[in-house]
Amino acid sequence: MAVRELTALCEEIADCPNCALARTRTQTVPGTGPAPADVMCIGEAPGAREDATGEPFVGPAGRLLDELLASAGLSREQVYIANIVKCRPPGNRDPQPEEVAACRGYLERQIALVDPKVIVTLGRFSMAAWFPGESIGRIHGRARRVEGRLVMPMYHPAAALHRGDLRPVLVADFQKLPALLASPDAEAPFAEAAEAAGPAPARAEAAEAAEAAAPPPQAPLL
Ligand code: URA
Repeated sequence: MAVRELTALCEEIADCPNCALARTRTQTVPGTGPAPADVMCIGEAPGAREDATGEPFVGPAGRLLDELLASAGLSREQVYIANIVKCRPPGNRDPQPEEVAACRGYLERQIALVDPKVIVTLGRFSMAAWFPGESIGRIHGRARRVEGRLVMPMYHPAAALHRGDLRPVLVADFQKLPALLASPDAEAPFAEAAEAAGPAPARAEAAEAAEAAAPPPQAPLL
């Protein structure tokens, strides 16, 4: 039932004229995976490979995502993977607020149909859809309940391709998923996390600088 509705939604997205990206895309990249699914990963926007294939995360960042999922005992086939924005921004520039807004309704309908126990946001743009104004360096790896769903912010895999020191951080964050899925009430709110981890400002600033210093997620993957 959910699968049929998701397929219909993907067909609707394929013809979407709602923002300027409709004029430059090769095709839309709505998302892939089962429904329902315990985990839904939400990235930023398709890159050139995704625009060419119609599938999310098929380049190097996608291969790392597969490895990260495997480190959590999950396979890509078990997880629904989508992006905040369904069409490639030209030159892999950052998605604009009006483009994110134009796709928001699609994303909300996808989430309702996939009905995940945990939403994993990948990177700052995806994080900002749930936690505007937050810093990825401060809140990554800590799940918080938003409107009844657990949302776990993580660094974007592409950031770890350029900053090797972020890779173990991502692995450690992904490895928290099995416990979270087993006890979905065991969220770790950000405030608690910051207190537990010690003097927050310097640590968070350093990590934030790391993600900000990384090139835009897909740009170097082309
Ligand atoms: N990066 C993303 O955020 N999404 C993709 O689909 C590919 C790379």
